[in-house]
Amino acid sequence: MDFSNKISDLEKNHLLRSRRVVKSAQGTRMQIDNQDIINFCSNDYLSLANHPKIKEALITGVEKYGVGSGASHLVSGHSKSHKILEEALSEFTGQENALLFSSGYTANLGVFSALRDEIKWVIQDKLNHASLIDGSAIIGLPIQRYLHKNLESLNSKLKKQTGPGLVVTDNVFSMDGDQADISGINKVLDKTDTILMQDDAHGFGIFNPLIPKNSIYMATLGKAAGVMGAFVAGNNDFIEFLIQKSRPYTYTTAIPPSLCQAILMSLEIIKNGEQKEKLLNNIEFFKTVSNQLGLNFEDSNSAIQPLIVGSSLRALEISNSLFDSGFFVSAIRPPTVPPNTARMRFTLSANHQSNEIELLLEKVKNAMA
Ligand SMILES: Cc1ncc(COP(=O)(O)O)c(C=O)c1O
Repeated sequence: MDFSNKISDLEKNHLLRSRRVVKSAQGTRMQIDNQDIINFCSNDYLSLANHPKIKEALITGVEKYGVGSGASHLVSGHSKSHKILEEALSEFTGQENALLFSSGYTANLGVFSALRDEIKWVIQDKLNHASLIDGSAIIGLPIQRYLHKNLESLNSKLKKQTGPGLVVTDNVFSMDGDQADISGINKVLDKTDTILMQDDAHGFGIFNPLIPKNSIYMATLGKAAGVMGAFVAGNNDFIEFLIQKSRPYTYTTAIPPSLCQAILMSLEIIKNGEQKEKLLNNIEFFKTVSNQLGLNFEDSNSAIQPLIVGSSLRALEISNSLFDSGFFVSAIRPPTVPPNTARMRFTLSANHQSNEIELLLEKVKNAMA
């Protein structure tokens, strides 16, 4: 197989992805490719990835538990710190129980894998994250998608289904920043054998989750929580069923116990609310200034603020020009987003300063001219 031809094709279509090398800790100010930049494309929304108290908790965890977990949860890898963290996460989300996974990607696949023999259909929002779409593939069911956030479209698809099934939505949409109407969706699902699953990767720690009774909630711990991993929360029976039936849970090494110690500290900081307030103020300020400058951002109240520019080439040009001015904003191109909707995806963090936001938006205005 000629891989070099395939790579050239990607390059010709401005779809080749590259990795910039970060030489400092994650944060709003970073050193990347030997350049000092202000970072506007991190999922470290609450600026916790380099928080001194969380680092200290991690180090204490390493001293107590060592570096690796050594095995999967069902063998000898399930430590007391995993157990305590699961209890803390279930309490935080108001659910009976929670189960840790090593990433959001595996957590999503984990839920689908467990439900493989239980459901006959899956319906997803058209803009759901790739890991959820891959979940439908793992289960071997056709991907049925309803129009983005459109309850009528969901309802008309629901009417055509028979037997037990799953309706899946991102809570905060990863490339658009808008939010699903969880309570509206839940009202549409009137059949008892329909389960709702929500992926709150980008809302957890920032917005209070709404988790309808007997639904499935997944959130990640590597974004606002600043560490890594993910969890699924729900009722006791469902979590026990996941432990028994989820292949991505069973056949993988547990995350290091020290990470659980770090996440527990992160949870305490999240509960304190100070970082969240700073982030929410930054979001409001960003929206005010971008409106004043006449920049046409999508309507989003989350930390994700997209500016759709259409072509992949234009998105790359703007991203490169911002990088040269000292701002890192990623160009998001197909297949991550639909064709002709390439965009600049700005993400805000608690530690951004208002003068950094102002300067960034002025540079964006110039780059768009
Ligand atoms: C909506 C959504 N779900 C799941 C994931 C996967 O999470 P993780 O990075 O922990 O694998 C992401 C990652 O960006 C995401 O945006």
